[in-house]
Amino acid sequence: MNFLELEELMQQHKAMILCSPHNPVGRIWKEAELAQLLFLAAKYNVFIISDEIWQDIVSSNVQHHPLFSFNSPAINQVLVLSSQTKTYNLAGAQIGYGLSYNRDFIVKMHHELTKSIHYASTNYLSAKMIISGYLNHDNYDWLAAYKTTLEENYHYLVNELLKGQLISNSPELKELI
Ligand SMILES: Cc1ncc(COP(=O)(O)O)c(C=O)c1O
Repeated sequence: MNFLELEELMQQHKAMILCSPHNPVGRIWKEAELAQLLFLAAKYNVFIISDEIWQDIVSSNVQHHPLFSFNSPAINQVLVLSSQTKTYNLAGAQIGYGLSYNRDFIVKMHHELTKSIHYASTNYLSAKMIISGYLNHDNYDWLAAYKTTLEENYHYLVNELLKGQLISNSPELKELI
């Protein structure tokens, strides 16, 4: 993260959107980066909207750090957005949700969403999906297998691109594979 620029921007804005893990570049933010981000958010009173929908789809050699796992005075200024749609492949299920320790914010958000675009309502099937997804969690072998397949595809692609010299064998790339 470019903290010099971020600090300057935080003095001019009230909120920022974080995508963690990042889509589309796939960047997993390091623990120290997120801690520094929260430090600056507390210093400049900036609200953080953290989209963590890709939280489960990360390579086995890295770890996603949810913002709610940090012990920071800025935690009351955080809204985490997520959904089961990526992990469980449920696109279109309309089951996205927002989490915050800031009750006032949740109440206001609910009010605005309900009044203007009816996004705060879901349907019976979607409600069943979200409940069964989060309650039936004895066994995550299928998720591990899914991630292994993704990693194999990723390595295959990188090796083919290297063979064809379509990408260069840089130190940054070595860190990723
Ligand atoms: C970072 C991010 N947030 C949110 C979404 C929305 O996901 P959905 O509409 O499946 O809930 C996507 C979908 O690709 C995404 O990549």
